[in-house]
Amino acid sequence: MVSRVIPVDTFDLVIFGGTGDLARRKILPGLFRRFQSGQMPEDSRIIGAARADLDDAGYRAVVKGALEEFIEKGDRPTNVVKEFLEAIHYVQIDATGSAGWPELSKLLRAGVVRAFYFSVAPSLFGALAERLHEYKCAGESCRIVVEKPFGRDLESARALNKTLRDHFDENQIYRIDHYLGKETVQNLMAVRFGNVLFEPLWNAQYVDHVQITVAETVGVNGRADYYDKSGAMRDMVQNHLMQLLCLIAMEPPSRFDPDAVRDEKLKVIRALEPVEPSDIVRGQYASEKKGESYLDQVGSDSITETFIAMKLQVSNWRWAGVPFYLRTGKCLKARASEIAIVFKDAPHSIFGQELGHHRNILSIRLQPNEGITLRVTIKEPGPGGMRLVDVPLDMSFKDALGPDADVAPEAYERLIMDVIRGNQTLFMRGDEVEAAWAWTDPLIESWTERGDRPKPYDIGSTGPEDAAVLMHREGRRWREIKA
Ligand code: BG6
Repeated sequence: MVSRVIPVDTFDLVIFGGTGDLARRKILPGLFRRFQSGQMPEDSRIIGAARADLDDAGYRAVVKGALEEFIEKGDRPTNVVKEFLEAIHYVQIDATGSAGWPELSKLLRAGVVRAFYFSVAPSLFGALAERLHEYKCAGESCRIVVEKPFGRDLESARALNKTLRDHFDENQIYRIDHYLGKETVQNLMAVRFGNVLFEPLWNAQYVDHVQITVAETVGVNGRADYYDKSGAMRDMVQNHLMQLLCLIAMEPPSRFDPDAVRDEKLKVIRALEPVEPSDIVRGQYASEKKGESYLDQVGSDSITETFIAMKLQVSNWRWAGVPFYLRTGKCLKARASEIAIVFKDAPHSIFGQELGHHRNILSIRLQPNEGITLRVTIKEPGPGGMRLVDVPLDMSFKDALGPDADVAPEAYERLIMDVIRGNQTLFMRGDEVEAAWAWTDPLIESWTERGDRPKPYDIGSTGPEDAAVLMHREGRRWREIKA
């Protein structure tokens, strides 16, 4: 099954910070792939805007270099790269001064979608927003895209929201959480709300608990400065894991429409109970080998966590008493992200425990090998009488949809195309971000005040032992982290 590619409207997309890491690594390769798939109209333009002294030709060389670095050779035919580069332009710009702005304004066309990607430090958002208006670059229907981190606490997030809203309407602001652009994350909504099968079971009566794991093998090399001020809670939980939790826990929205979906997610965040310190385990990767441990990499006696495991409660009728366990960390055993809905036992076992006992588990694999598995109990085959085993009803999207299906466009590609289409469903609304910080802030404050030291864990492990204890003490266990 080959997926349909529906071209978007012609656009002018300006990337502030167009020479930066995110632009080179994600945005430009993503746009290239959409161009190659036929989704990006040929007369669209991508305009890099940055401080570097470059012209169109110089920037095209930067873009070409990025494609060579981040896209496999076989996936970027020379003629397609050449055509793509024709859509690339550049303006040398001073975000806080006046240089370059008249040129940018002249370059932008009327009658096409206009979008501005703020791939720069948040401290520049205000200056960019002001100048976009002063130099008449921003039209009523233009869109701006901003990246995480969206603030580092409630106060700074509020200030950022105010800065942006002073210049743009909420429906022009696209706050990216790239987890929402992942194929399987969207599939979560399709599975939940497109099937009659799951919804009746999706509540405290049938669900024992939910596990959300986002395990990474990478450390913080090269990003230590940013990371040390952030930690796993701000870097991953407040945004990515929180969004996953919302999609699992939310009520069915009345329509698949941006505000209907985001209203429901917001209710989940607001229904989160404060977390007890005893329900949080913070860890930090460590190693005997010089230069490998987190402390060596940040070069200080830091108490920032690179791992976090926690138990949350969503206090509403649907989820009363159902724990949600979240876990994420760097330098773990494997890169594996998964959401698992672990169902309760059947109310009465006619077989007795000795014949085998298994629970239904619905597992949604975000990466790698995106797919969904439902573990069901069956009779062990063979003449040996009734013994129960659990087997997976396994659906890897690649297998189910065929090798040619466009199953996993990178999150960024999809999200940028949604910006052009003007669809905000997969972007965070300002109130959602603030609610997530309002829940996060007291937790961070409490461990900062206590001077809580994260527990060391070995590189390549599953995190600190205490994370396992968090589950064991309630008779549960984490699912294995495996790629
Ligand atoms: C980013 C975090 O938002 O997400 C990184 O800042 C993290 O620390 C990354 O590595 C993980 O994204 P993905 O798509 O590789 O799971």
